[in-house]
Amino acid sequence: MKLSVIGCGYLGAVHAASMASLGHTVVGIDVDEIKIAKLSAGEAPFHEPGFSDILRAGLDSGRLTFSTDFANAADADVHFIGVGTPQRKDSAGADLTYVDASIDSLVPHLKPGSLVAGKSTVPVGTAARLAEIVKPTGARLAWNPEFLREGFAVKDTVDPDRLVYGVDEATRDADVAILDSVYASILDRETPRLVMDYATAELVKISANSFLATKISFINAMAEIAEVTGADVTMLADAIGHDARIGRRFLNAGVGFGGGCLPKDIRAFTARAEELGRGESLAFLKQVDEINLRRRQHVVDLVVDSFDGIVHNHRVAVLGLAFKPDSDDIRDSPALDVAVRLNGLGADVISYDPEAMANAARMHPQLSFADSMEQALEGAEAVVVVTEWKQFKSLDPVETAAKVARAVVFDGRNIFNPEAWRAAGWAYTGMGR
Ligand code: UDX
Repeated sequence: MKLSVIGCGYLGAVHAASMASLGHTVVGIDVDEIKIAKLSAGEAPFHEPGFSDILRAGLDSGRLTFSTDFANAADADVHFIGVGTPQRKDSAGADLTYVDASIDSLVPHLKPGSLVAGKSTVPVGTAARLAEIVKPTGARLAWNPEFLREGFAVKDTVDPDRLVYGVDEATRDADVAILDSVYASILDRETPRLVMDYATAELVKISANSFLATKISFINAMAEIAEVTGADVTMLADAIGHDARIGRRFLNAGVGFGGGCLPKDIRAFTARAEELGRGESLAFLKQVDEINLRRRQHVVDLVVDSFDGIVHNHRVAVLGLAFKPDSDDIRDSPALDVAVRLNGLGADVISYDPEAMANAARMHPQLSFADSMEQALEGAEAVVVVTEWKQFKSLDPVETAAKVARAVVFDGRNIFNPEAWRAAGWAYTGMGR
């Protein structure tokens, strides 16, 4: 099939290359000329395992192209909308500027019978509004949310847990058939496929992310209780996680969640509920956000306390800047926030992250960065681990103790064995343990 993907950021670029890998002919469209030039040259604009391979394979096959010109999308059977919906600058709501602009630019090129399939996370009610704009062209609109995780984006796209189609009841059969053709090879593996109305499809996405955020803040709230009772939140998570109704995944306490989705989605969802007169239904998400933001400050407070309240000029090694491992993404990153706050308090912060330092340096040129993890640790008076990269997990407490000036460690992701670190002479502090 011929497909277009509007928006070549994280979601769109991965979707375009993944669809080409499934055998479709795909054009990726974006207004950012630099991004399009990079993608056309086979260069990934972000770090994502496996993405470069399918990007280059798609380009080499001739089935994958990129362009800034919407006219090049004209002959596609399906147009996926994968542009960003960031948090608005003036409120908690979602900024739909990019969604609206992409529909406006696409409409003059839509052929009758084609399908516009929204992938972006949008406030409930957006699809119904956009369907009215698309309708006069003879094209139709569906909402087909994407659940990809960074670090697993390619796998999540070509081998998802489920496919969700939000369609207009009046054209349901035709819309389902066209999406089924796009995803035929995925459906062959008996991937669950759920067909529903627009509003439900929009809500599935944002409620899934809200649930995940709630799960993380729940365990971080338990960490706060554990910290004043001497309990161990890690053992607690293991024990409650054995209950299949609860499950152990997403119960890792630490410095909290970040990234381009969870934080802005819970805020946008709360704002949308308030617009709908149902603010009280999602009031708890404000607390989910507050708990989450408290955890990063908690780590900063612990570090400052370890210097008797004055961190000024003390050398602090911050390991991690990305919001999670296997990513160079620093959007709303708790790890970066910890480095920035300590730096703001006058600490001599030296950060290291295997992938995210270039992005962090662009946003926060005041920070100092080490060339290697070893360099960051050299002479440190406190070590703060805030992203659970594999290479940090395998740090040896005895060898590390020999590098630092003061063996004080704050394990912001609970990745170390406290006994082993204490036995090696470290003052170890985890999160809620
Ligand atoms: C998320 C959703 O998982 C995905 O389905 C959606 O499409 C986009 O948003 P992503 O932002 O890539 O994906 O990251 P995710 O793996 O969900 O992690 C989000 C944040 O939660 C990270 O900062 C991570 O460190 C944190 N986290 C996750 C915890 O603090 N504890 C956990 O137990 C799990």
